Amino acid sequence: MNVLILHGPNLNMLEKRDPTYYGGLSQEDIFNHIVETYQHIDFTFYQTNHEGEMIDVIQQTQNVDAIIVNLGAWTHYAFAIRDALELTNKIIIDVHLSDLTKREAFRQINILEGLTKKTFMGEKLLSYTKAIDYCQTLLD
Ligand code: DQA
Repeated sequence: MNVLILHGPNLNMLEKRDPTYYGGLSQEDIFNHIVETYQHIDFTFYQTNHEGEMIDVIQQTQNVDAIIVNLGAWTHYAFAIRDALELTNKIIIDVHLSDLTKREAFRQINILEGLTKKTFMGEKLLSYTKAIDYCQTLLD
């Protein structure tokens, strides 16, 4: 099983962001935990702060069974990224560390709605592991 995990803007600075929402973990902590926990899965991780670069990466995606995305703030407005993800015809799963339903109104708009198989949010690192577990149930 091959899974691509995509991180959007400011997720490379996670350890400096509000721990109430993000748990004080760094992106590396998350990626390392995933690799150690799921040794039987092949992961590719990619983070960028540049929307066009993210679209290029998505357009070049081949040979993956599923894409797990935390698009950061792009989740709320980046329609071009949604279009690029739609074009892949892959299983897309949406992940957030924080619970978007309990935050500002602008964070309650999720442009991936209807495209993603499921959203896991509000459980920090567990949001990721639950998304991967779910991915396995879809692909087994
Ligand atoms: C986030 C939530 C977004 O609203 C925010 O812009 C982020 C992180 C999360 O993981 O909770 O950068 O996607």
